Amino acid sequence: MDLHLAARVALVTGGSRGIGRAAALLLAREGARVAVSYRSDVDRAAAVVAEIADAGGEAFAVPLNLADHESIRAAVASVLDRWGRLDVLVSNALDTAGLTLWPPTAFEELAASTWQPFLRANVDGPYAVAQAVVPAMRAQGFGRMVMVSGTSGLDGQPFAAALATAKAALHGLVRTLTKELGPAGILVNAVLPGTTLTEHIAAVLPADARTTRASASPIRRLLDPAEVVPAIAFLASPTNTGVTGELLRVSGGL
Ligand SMILES: NC(=O)c1ccc[n+]([C@@H]2O[C@H](COP(=O)([O-])OP(=O)(O)OC[C@H]3O[C@@H](n4cnc5c(N)ncnc54)[C@H](OP(=O)(O)O)[C@@H]3O)[C@@H](O)[C@H]2O)c1
Repeated sequence: MDLHLAARVALVTGGSRGIGRAAALLLAREGARVAVSYRSDVDRAAAVVAEIADAGGEAFAVPLNLADHESIRAAVASVLDRWGRLDVLVSNALDTAGLTLWPPTAFEELAASTWQPFLRANVDGPYAVAQAVVPAMRAQGFGRMVMVSGTSGLDGQPFAAALATAKAALHGLVRTLTKELGPAGILVNAVLPGTTLTEHIAAVLPADARTTRASASPIRRLLDPAEVVPAIAFLASPTNTGVTGELLRVSGGL
């Protein structure tokens, strides 16, 4: 299937690693020009850009810190300066600073100091990034946003109330923007990965917890980032003309 992404312009937040990196590589392979955002690891972002260039694609690395809304506006401005348009936003980065992702926490013991950073990380950053790209997409009469969320936001996740609630809040943004921006030709969806073996997950999730999650999955393993991103690429593409407002699990069935 041709996704008709040739010459389209995409911004992938957190494109230097993990799911974002896989999304950037796939969008570029499909012909898109890709801005690969990173927070601090410029070398990793540069490596993704080099990989795209080696394959004949076009990309550049752009700093963007979700905690600094001015940096978000500057990143979007630099994409527009360079390529004159912005067709696709993959809002993937998660500001993990201050998040307690492990161990699981019983709700009665969930301190406000643990709860609040999750809401900030999962909601404030994506809000600011989405807001920054809307003017260009509206002017073009075309845009595709894909928010990378998580299955916990739909299904709930025991002992992870902060994460699940924050991702559910993100779904409220997706459903609302779908209705508000649809008339301007902007389609908004979320992809909800199951546990995906990124460096981050390998670092925070102990090996026995990874094994338990893999055994509980119908496909009996964790996902690879490359398995998550085809759904992102389709939803982000001009070939997608009718799917908007969806919260799509890419979870191996868990
Ligand atoms: N992996 C999973 O199992 C899983 C499951 C469900 C949902 N998700 C969601 O998928 C998304 C990506 O997860 P991942 O595991 O691929 O992440 P990851 O491997 O930890 O990659 C994180 C990326 O985000 C960037 N980043 C970190 N803090 C940032 C900040 N404050 N501002 C801007 N960028 C920042 C990093 O840049 P630097 O390298 O420069 O720090 C990196 O490019 C997240 O939204 C996560 O919630 C993941």
